[in-house]
Amino acid sequence: MHKLSSSKTGPLLGTITVPGDKSISHRALIMGALSIGESKISGLLEGEDVLGTATALRALGADIYKDKETVWHVHGVGIGGLREPDVSLNMGNSGTGVRLLMGLVATHPIEVTFTGDSSLSSRPMKRITDPLEKFGAKFSGNSDGTLPIKVIGAKSPIPISYELPMASAQVKSAIMLAGLNTPGRTTVVEKISTRDHSERIFKYFGVPIEIDNNNIHVSGHAELTAKEMTVPADPSSASFLVVAAIITEGSDLIIKNVGMNPARTGLFETLLDMGGQIYFKNKRQSCGEDIADIHVKYSKLKGIEVPHERAASMIDEYPVLCAAAANAEGNTVMRGINELRVKESDRIAVMVVGLQACGVNVIEHDDGMTVSKSEVSGGTLVATHLDHRIAMSFLILGLNSKKTISIDDGRVIETSFPEFTDLMNSLGAQICP
Ligand code: S3P
Repeated sequence: MHKLSSSKTGPLLGTITVPGDKSISHRALIMGALSIGESKISGLLEGEDVLGTATALRALGADIYKDKETVWHVHGVGIGGLREPDVSLNMGNSGTGVRLLMGLVATHPIEVTFTGDSSLSSRPMKRITDPLEKFGAKFSGNSDGTLPIKVIGAKSPIPISYELPMASAQVKSAIMLAGLNTPGRTTVVEKISTRDHSERIFKYFGVPIEIDNNNIHVSGHAELTAKEMTVPADPSSASFLVVAAIITEGSDLIIKNVGMNPARTGLFETLLDMGGQIYFKNKRQSCGEDIADIHVKYSKLKGIEVPHERAASMIDEYPVLCAAAANAEGNTVMRGINELRVKESDRIAVMVVGLQACGVNVIEHDDGMTVSKSEVSGGTLVATHLDHRIAMSFLILGLNSKKTISIDDGRVIETSFPEFTDLMNSLGAQICP
């Protein structure tokens, strides 16, 4: 175990960048692997989750390497060109990696076994295998629909029209990717909008895709054009810095080049509603995505009821919102977030236990939690359950806690934000083993 501890600090000051967006990094590698020619990707997140996707794509036939300038080169095999790997693909902790790749291979005539760590192996995969079976793919594995799972790809896939039963960009993207090697038109119907990075990157790489209201139509067997692209900084990673600055007196931070896709900025909207001093500067577009620099200052917050319809646009940010909520006057109510129970951990249960141990007033609901302004006492060791966002959220809470807050396993942060501890400490935080 790699324990990490975080203590109360002075102001966090500086201008920084955070690593590339995790969702876009996975997708950029996948699209490169499906294109003919060489794609060049700058700003790729080099966290374990994304590196795992690169390794898996190599096993499926793509040539992927990083040059001295840290640009990633991907020589793709073309749609339909994936080869059967000699080994099973271990996707580690990554739900996005495994679900997107299961979609991708489901319509190739190959067999691929996917495995993962104990967190990933307890997460639901039936939400993926159900629609992929309709294309003609078959699956063998545990009867409860968890990893390890062997995908027997369809030899003659048939296009489907599928209405998503839950708000999930991973399921939507898996179906869209399966549609790429399927003749005709595949349709995904999405009642609640989720992050649209797949739609945007499909267009960027030249896939014919039509979006009307809630329907996303993908035409199969297109030829993808290799591209150069720059991945924006991850708004989910930036969120830890934003909350850190907001709860630490005297802080003043600028975070450069952050992805501002409206399907990802729910936490920033929520913090603004709570009275956060956050300013967006230099708004622009790059490679089909919106970007801006964020200026954030220490703020006095008040609790609010987070609008339910905002959940999808901040689904990964509720753990760190708890750190802000513990420092906000009154109550912050977070409901309609059942999906949190099937993330890297049951994020509602794990946050509630950890917050209570740190002296934070919190009530658990079936579909969420209510966090109240608290004198955060700390002086405790929190169990992170192989969940990077739980780990970082409690280290942020420790910045404004009477006694140190420790987490049992800081290594899991490597999955999405390997620079987190060094970056925080370079700004004035005290996070140490
Ligand atoms: C992601 C979608 C979300 C999110 C995850 C990344 C993606 O998961 O929580 O961190 O890149 O598509 P769900 O699709 O399960 O909501």
